[in-house]
Amino acid sequence: MDKKWLLAPALLIVLVGCTAAPGSTEALPTSTTAPPAAAPAATNTPEPTPAPTPTHAPYVPSSPSLRELAAAHDLLIGAAVSAGPLRGEATYAQALAHEFNVLTIENAMKFGPIHPAPDRYAFANADAIVAFAEEHDMQIHGHTLVWHRQAPEWITEGEWTRKELLEVLHEHIATVVGRYRGRVDAWDVVNEAIDKGRLRETVWEKVIGPDYIDLAFQWAHEADPDALLFYNDYGGEGTNKKADAIYDLVKGMVERGVPIHGVGLQMHLTLGGIPTGIVENVDRLADLGLEVQITELDVRLQKQGKPDKFERQAKDYKAVVEACLQAKRCTAVIMWGFTDRHSWIPSAFEGYGEALIFDELYQPKPAYAAIQETLQK
Ligand code: G3I
Repeated sequence: MDKKWLLAPALLIVLVGCTAAPGSTEALPTSTTAPPAAAPAATNTPEPTPAPTPTHAPYVPSSPSLRELAAAHDLLIGAAVSAGPLRGEATYAQALAHEFNVLTIENAMKFGPIHPAPDRYAFANADAIVAFAEEHDMQIHGHTLVWHRQAPEWITEGEWTRKELLEVLHEHIATVVGRYRGRVDAWDVVNEAIDKGRLRETVWEKVIGPDYIDLAFQWAHEADPDALLFYNDYGGEGTNKKADAIYDLVKGMVERGVPIHGVGLQMHLTLGGIPTGIVENVDRLADLGLEVQITELDVRLQKQGKPDKFERQAKDYKAVVEACLQAKRCTAVIMWGFTDRHSWIPSAFEGYGEALIFDELYQPKPAYAAIQETLQK
């Protein structure tokens, strides 16, 4: 597996007797802390595959493809992938493999979908996506180990002591990261832990305390020392208060010797909403010795928008890719899906959609051409 992301010396963080995060009394477990015995893997019950979709206007593989153009910049370009269309739509799989050199997993590796019961894991969908990426020489960005959403009820509704929830989280991370050791290149270890400038009040933060973040990174690193470990969040892409809070969080982690290698900036945008100061923000994170990746890019449009909405959307995609190419250490542009046929936007934002670079019939939109043009420079 190409590991061109192998860490520059500046990134090698020696974990010797690192102190625990503020607010906890325990030192980070050393490598002698064996993870609790993993719950037995369950029978893999894949999610239902949607019925075969009607034939589309033929997707015409581009030449050069986005992944070929991105390689010239040593840039990863990719998309979030869902197991259903990957199994059920040949065009989805064809376009994904042709255009992108990295994929992230939209839902299948989240706590709820992959660990639906205390003694049951469901790996089938994640396994299928990982196998597809390996078959098509694509890097894999695992998403996400610790998040307050899509956590299963047995976690969120449980009555936990700190010790009990620590054991559960440790076993989860050791099991999931361990299963894909050497196969998943990077992980979103903790997702969206900052809210209004402070640590978000989640089951993890309330029961374990602020050090759940350091511990999660420590355990992920123990489970796969070669995987790049990211903190991932939204709303802090440019220079603003949330970006400052994210910067302070990861700066503290670096200073404590926590094995963090990068920050994921999600970049979920509305039309014309390019954050100011992206390059400045990325550069200051890079100055901490971290990689930065755009991890969930999409630009949602109002369905009733003006006739030139796709051209304006193309300008926004171009601006984000240009910022990533200009910044010190922006190593990936990953979109949250790639075809309007499969996007979270319509179900999350009424009246909005058309956020991605291929339309519902897998025809490239002006945003596709704008990315192509930017990468050809
Ligand atoms: O799989 C079940 C299905 O069995 C059930 O019939 C159906 C109806 O209840 O729900 C299905 O699960 C849905 C899942 O997507 C898979 O489609 C969940 O209800 C739904 O909440 C979930 O939404 C996902 C959302 O995260 C959850 O918060 C979106 O697909 C996904 O795109 C979105 O992605 C997040 C990133 O992980 C983190 N950053 C923000 C981004 C957008 O919210």
